Amino acid sequence: MKEKDIILGVSGASGVILSYYLAKAIREQGRRLHLVLSDAARLTWELETRLSLQELAGLADVLYEPQDMSAEIASGSFLTEGMIVAPCSMKTLAGIVTGYTDNLLLRAVDVCLKEGRKVILCPREMPLSRLHLKNLYAAAQLGCSIVPPMLSFYGGQETVEDHLHHIVGKILMQYNMSYDRFRPWKGNARSEGQ
Ligand SMILES: Cc1cc2nc3c(=O)[nH]c(=O)nc-3n(C[C@H](O)[C@H](O)[C@H](O)COP(=O)(O)O)c2cc1C
Repeated sequence: MKEKDIILGVSGASGVILSYYLAKAIREQGRRLHLVLSDAARLTWELETRLSLQELAGLADVLYEPQDMSAEIASGSFLTEGMIVAPCSMKTLAGIVTGYTDNLLLRAVDVCLKEGRKVILCPREMPLSRLHLKNLYAAAQLGCSIVPPMLSFYGGQETVEDHLHHIVGKILMQYNMSYDRFRPWKGNARSEGQ
């Protein structure tokens, strides 16, 4: 049974380091991790992080080449719980909503959608154009959960790492997975006892 398998797609938007924190968290949950990076994601990784790509790749149970359309995740007959795309570039978003599956990441999302599996997109662009917003709405209508990597401050986040943990927690919540470095809102202590 492959219900514990999760696909993580990483596209070339800014914030590729998010995928590293997510991959670690998914593995900590005892899930099998299938990892696919677009070509652009590899470039962004090199430009934005100080980690070697192997440090991300090493977290995966299976790492795929972006053009390997013969991979198991390219077929609906391979069971997974679903897929997370983090970060999701505007180009990958456009590919998802048009069904233009010219790489394995896009094909894997397309497969999850046709099989009715959970797809979570973490779109990253700033500002968002009308086209981006239109495509995000289209993705939501197709059944994708849109979880943008936004800053939150209600949990006392101070460092970039705090923010990353919070975003990872919000993403994992979509799969009913808990994350011990996520600090949920526990109510306003100042209003207690009133
Ligand atoms: C350092 C860097 C940061 C980028 N940030 C973004 C971004 O935040 N959002 C976005 O949509 N594209 C961003 N891009 C552009 C994408 O990498 C580019 O559109 C690419 O074709 C996306 O391909 P992919 O969707 O197949 O990964 C960035 C590119 C670089 C080099």
